[in-house]
Amino acid sequence: MKNVFNNIIDTIGNTPLVKLNAITKDFPCPVYAKVEYFNPGNSIKDRLALKLIRDAEASGKLKPGGTIVECTSGNTGMGLALAATALGYKCVFTMSSKMSQEKVDILRAMGAEVFICPVDVPADHPESYYKVAERIAKERDGWLPDQYNNLSNSAAHYESTGPELWEQTDGKITAYVVSTGTGGTLCGTAKYLKEKNPNIKTIGVDPEGSLLKHWHETGEVDESLTRVYMLEGMGEDFLPDNYNREVIDYMVTVPDKESMLMCRRLAREEGLFCGTSAGAAVLGVLKSKDLFTADDFVVVVLHDHGSRYVGKVYNDNWMREKGFMD
Ligand SMILES: Cc1ncc(COP(=O)(O)O)c(C=O)c1O
Repeated sequence: MKNVFNNIIDTIGNTPLVKLNAITKDFPCPVYAKVEYFNPGNSIKDRLALKLIRDAEASGKLKPGGTIVECTSGNTGMGLALAATALGYKCVFTMSSKMSQEKVDILRAMGAEVFICPVDVPADHPESYYKVAERIAKERDGWLPDQYNNLSNSAAHYESTGPELWEQTDGKITAYVVSTGTGGTLCGTAKYLKEKNPNIKTIGVDPEGSLLKHWHETGEVDESLTRVYMLEGMGEDFLPDNYNREVIDYMVTVPDKESMLMCRRLAREEGLFCGTSAGAAVLGVLKSKDLFTADDFVVVVLHDHGSRYVGKVYNDNWMREKGFMD
């Protein structure tokens, strides 16, 4: 039997690489997209969700039938929820109020309890989605995976995303571009790829309003640089432990508006219906064009599927309201 699985978690990973044609037509080299919405939870986060759970089971932090409590921009929650269902755990999630309603509804549909927390409070405020998750974990004797500081996150990408890209490209990959949030996708994969070929260029894409690019350039974590932006899942207002400055060569900043417009172009010009961080990542590729020559083979990660954003980036009224479209 081919393509037959014992449960949903066995279908995680082995996602396709798809060549971009229209958007990068004037590039000197090929650009391929790692289309992570082919994962069962429609995002790359299924990979780390499973690894977080497996490592917590092994260390005894997650007991049979236990409760998983996590703050999530939606995708890690989806990965945790589907793995939890397959493996017999309960899930409680906290989310920031800027996240799309679709993401909240999807998590509830998966049987998780979801708490919405205000977006406009600092990470250490008692009402922030980080702190509320900590409080609920204590109250319910739950396990808090803490994808930001749990190194199983970057390890998941070191063990799966990195080797997959190396094998899929027969070792031809020369540049890796990715929107970055917790840092797991960027730093875990980059570490693996640089061990294989130290000359691979690794490029993180950071939204305007996040402090990560400044940190990469100066080593300083300057919270005064942060402000609210509309791109989801990427950028930070603190520095998660999954960051490793040594494996990041460049960081580029992208604005909300151009990233949103690029996200719409991906759907119309490439047939890739993605979330907004994918638009940001591809914009990051365009902004990095001067780094590439005819010898390059660029891979850009598309983190998740567009269905979670139909009320936002794919809604003309929302785009106009936000000033992203005339
Ligand atoms: C849609 C989306 N894009 C990008 C990212 C960033 O990935 P990472 O947290 O591995 O840096 C996330 C993380 O939640 C995400 O949900």
